[in-house]
Amino acid sequence: MLADGHCVPGKKGEKMNILVVDDETVQLESLKRGLKTNGYDVLEALSAEEALAMLEREGSTIDMILTDYVMPGMNGIEFLKKIREKHPSLPVVMMTAYGAKDLVINALRNRCDSFIEKPFTLEELINEIERTKFNMLQNANSHRLSELVSKFIHQMNNPLMCAMGSAQLGIENLHDGASIKRYMEKIIKAIQKIQVINKEMLDLGRAAQADFEKVKLSAVLFECLGSFGPLFKLKGISVDKDLEDDSLPVMGSVFGLEQMFNNLILNAVDAMDGMDEKLLKIRLRVKRAARKICVSLLDTGCGIPEEYLGKVFTPYFSNKESGSGLGLAVVKDVVEKHNGTINISSRPGKGTLIEVCLPLRGDDLNT
Ligand SMILES: Nc1ncnc2c1ncn2[C@@H]1O[C@H](COP(=O)(O)OP(=O)(O)OP(=O)(O)O)[C@@H](O)[C@H]1O
Ligand SMILES: [Mg+2]
Repeated sequence: MLADGHCVPGKKGEKMNILVVDDETVQLESLKRGLKTNGYDVLEALSAEEALAMLEREGSTIDMILTDYVMPGMNGIEFLKKIREKHPSLPVVMMTAYGAKDLVINALRNRCDSFIEKPFTLEELINEIERTKFNMLQNANSHRLSELVSKFIHQMNNPLMCAMGSAQLGIENLHDGASIKRYMEKIIKAIQKIQVINKEMLDLGRAAQADFEKVKLSAVLFECLGSFGPLFKLKGISVDKDLEDDSLPVMGSVFGLEQMFNNLILNAVDAMDGMDEKLLKIRLRVKRAARKICVSLLDTGCGIPEEYLGKVFTPYFSNKESGSGLGLAVVKDVVEKHNGTINISSRPGKGTLIEVCLPLRGDDLNT
């Protein structure tokens, strides 16, 4: 899926749906017939205005637009500008007159994906469509890759900081064998976490449900809350935790689940900066009948304005000066890998409630 909700055109052998826009009925009919016989689905519009109305209605079902430049009413560039307002990554191929260089430059500025000069053969048109589709796939892949790399770097920061801190403390305590041992153990733990990230990186993020183990969620949560103890104290945050005894394990990755809780807790801590009341309520409930275990975090922070609620899981979305906007994207990845669900609701100025539910195994429920 591309950023604006359009699928990568013609993915997995699906038929591409092309919206052809041309004010000349004969030309439109011949393009339609030619494309259909070559296996494309075709929608047609006789003007830019009609095409825009169609885009509004059919939205994400359209994979590509093939449009003439010279049309009565709105011309190709004006049409392109309108398309880009709502569909920044929908591929557009423009049919131009021979040698129309100024127009091509102008269209490129408005993010037109490709051109085909008239007159052209059907074979040339198909080649251009396929080339554009290939470029879109490449772009989508490299976008996905750069997102993955950013997420890995984001996850790597925590264990790196932990290893660095432990090494520094070790150097300051060289005389104390027991402390050195404790710091060394912390460094080994941090390196093991980095190894998990490396493995995921090599698997290109497809990691490794094969490596899932039985995990006691309350224990992971307890450990995370413990590591935030000094920060809570420093920031004057009270924590009210009510963790039901969960003798039932979930199948998961301890490291992934730690990342999930760490990011959720850090966001709550950030949100409560400067608030009069600073209370973080954490609940863990086993919902046997629904075969799931749910953890909720309710903070008394600044909350999330309604218009941002739909965007917070989008990579790089952040309203913090130094935020990378990757924390909740990582959380979403972890939840999805564990076949779980996440819900967020918020009251601006009052606080935010986030609930994560993970499935329990049938086998464990029956014991
Ligand atoms: N508990 C919360 N209270 C208020 N706003 C929140 C909360 N959790 C998330 N947000 C909003 O969602 C945005 C995205 O969160 P996310 O964790 O992905 O990125 P970030 O915290 O800005 O940066 P980082 O990559 O360092 O985590 C935040 O910038 C913030 O606006
Ligand atoms: Mg965050």
